[in-house]
Amino acid sequence: MNRVRGRTAVVTGATAGIGEACARALAGRGVRVVLNARRRERLERLAAEIAETEGAPEPLVRVFDVRDRAAVADFADELEAAGTAVDILVNNAGLARGLDTVQEGRHEDWDEMIDTNVKGVLNMTRALLPGMIARDRGHVVNIGSIAGHLVYPKGNVYCATKYAVKALTQAANLDLVGTKVRMSSVDPGLVETEFSLVRFRGDDDRARTVYQGVESLLAEDVADAVCYVVNTPPHVNVLHMVVMPTVQRSPHVIAREE
Ligand SMILES: NC(=O)c1ccc[n+]([C@@H]2O[C@H](COP(=O)([O-])OP(=O)(O)OC[C@H]3O[C@@H](n4cnc5c(N)ncnc54)[C@H](OP(=O)(O)O)[C@@H]3O)[C@@H](O)[C@H]2O)c1
Repeated sequence: MNRVRGRTAVVTGATAGIGEACARALAGRGVRVVLNARRRERLERLAAEIAETEGAPEPLVRVFDVRDRAAVADFADELEAAGTAVDILVNNAGLARGLDTVQEGRHEDWDEMIDTNVKGVLNMTRALLPGMIARDRGHVVNIGSIAGHLVYPKGNVYCATKYAVKALTQAANLDLVGTKVRMSSVDPGLVETEFSLVRFRGDDDRARTVYQGVESLLAEDVADAVCYVVNTPPHVNVLHMVVMPTVQRSPHVIAREE
């Protein structure tokens, strides 16, 4: 049963990986998607592709940085002025930078991860949740990580941001009690996307080793999980959905083929 057809979803970080796959998957189910990220050209290309998909409503493209509170507020105001009610928010934009011990960590990497993964999620949620509460309808899905359930060596600050996403998901659910608005997290293990390329600042060889000999999740697998979560009946609230590749049983317990 398709319960999401005709709804509107905002997907942050839709230029690559999981966000792009979520946008395609939701649009394929008849959801009008509002695509966000910072790279306009990629967003416009994706929007054009989606627009040609049978049954997919015309997407909207909105280029901004989720760390920019003023831009996020303008975005929410614009939607409200246009009478566009957001039913689903997929807080996906996020990143890891570097892989260092805490004692060797770079301040700029910490700021970028905390500002995007934690404050970005908060900025978007603060801007769009009041409308959902006023309509007594809506679903926020945060893309967390298994790094928010277990730490791994040199994962320190990235793990801390994903633990924060888990805590915020749980805490917001307390704030939302008595409403029909739901908040969930989908927490993947290893997914082959541009994530490692970003983490290692474009070092292709290093990024490739992360996925070598591993049948990782595909971004589409995570999008499937997101679609399952938002398609549940209104009385069902998935708090956290943890999804890992079969070869991975913990962040650093992986059966890797040599
Ligand atoms: N890949 C994995 O193994 C894995 C595992 C668990 C969780 N995750 C989580 O999944 C989410 C998506 O990651 P991914 O694997 O799909 O990585 P990805 O391929 O690098 O995609 C990240 C997306 O986030 C966007 N983004 C980054 N900073 C942004 C900002 N400040 N404002 C707006 N958009 C921003 C990027 O777009 P622009 O650069 O164009 O802005 C891009 O579209 C992240 O939250 C990540 O932590 C990933």
